[in-house]
Amino acid sequence: MHKKEFNVVIAGATGLVGGQMITCLEESEFPIKNINFLASSRSAGKKLDFKGEKIVVQEMTEKSFKGNDIALFSAGGSTSKKFAPKAAESGCIVVDNSSYWRKDKDVPLIVPEVNPHAIKDYVKKGIIANPNCSTIQMVVALNPIYRNYGIKRLVISTYQSVSGTGKKAVDELFEQTRDIVNSKEIKKDVYPHQIAFNCLPHIDSFLDTGYSKEEMKMVDETIKIFEDEKIGITATTVRVPVFYSHSESVNIETEKHVTPEQIRNLLVNAPGIEVLDDPSNNIYPLATNASGKDTTFVGRIRQDQSIENGIDMWIVADNIRKGAATNTVQIAELLAEKYL
Ligand code: A2P
Repeated sequence: MHKKEFNVVIAGATGLVGGQMITCLEESEFPIKNINFLASSRSAGKKLDFKGEKIVVQEMTEKSFKGNDIALFSAGGSTSKKFAPKAAESGCIVVDNSSYWRKDKDVPLIVPEVNPHAIKDYVKKGIIANPNCSTIQMVVALNPIYRNYGIKRLVISTYQSVSGTGKKAVDELFEQTRDIVNSKEIKKDVYPHQIAFNCLPHIDSFLDTGYSKEEMKMVDETIKIFEDEKIGITATTVRVPVFYSHSESVNIETEKHVTPEQIRNLLVNAPGIEVLDDPSNNIYPLATNASGKDTTFVGRIRQDQSIENGIDMWIVADNIRKGAATNTVQIAELLAEKYL
């Protein structure tokens, strides 16, 4: 039988995540008939490579999606708000990387290793949401624990790289670092404070509760993905002077008692995870080693001695790949394989 091929759009192709989506599609076996690259009017006419071919970037308009099957969006929340419904109306299913649609009850929020069954709800709006980068890597690591031992409560601290903010933030960290070591005045455009040699407990804007929106994304999205409102979750999200990959300290209170050894055995066999856990030999997950990979790395697995059923762990993944582009492409693959 002839395998079906799809017309695919990358919306935000010139961005950091869009560029990685292009790489992920080049590396994948995803059956593409035709590919279109869209961005703002600033980038129209620019040429980008795809599998050795030059593709001209076009300005995104409401008409850009007609005749296409799947659009992978990473062009910011307001662009997704405006254009995703237009794409869906033209019969082009959207996999959206922004936060705009994630909480919509008619939009499935998918991590293919964790809740592939929920993707069927894409029919409601023609839009599927990709979770926040910090949520994705955490739920990949938590899923086997949740399914086998139950989770009562999570206490999370993140150490998030600047690439999560976009291209301009990567440049800002580089330039500030260079200027500081050369005893020059620094420029601050992207972040409210110096990011080089600093940690900012501030990602996205603050809410009246004192939490940041990024912290609440981790809470709300984890509950939506596990379909379990009973899990208690508190998070502190921090931007650190790292270019790529997010690291997370996660304290888990399980329903049933579990030992670090049982967790290691469970995670070693789980999809998308590599356990790196031999601290006496300096082996634990590191941002520098995770960069460029699709795997979620887990280590420092230990018993929390302050409560009866507690585990601490350290989770690291490339925020642009598994945290964004790879997960988006995996969603598109799941959709194409099962539903189109
Ligand atoms: P452009 O490069 O033309 O500005 P990043 O998060 O790395 O900054 O990337 C954001 C992506 O979203 C880029 O591809 C950017 O295109 C695209 N984008 C931003 N605003 C719009 C818009 N209003 N319409 C279409 N694409 C947009």
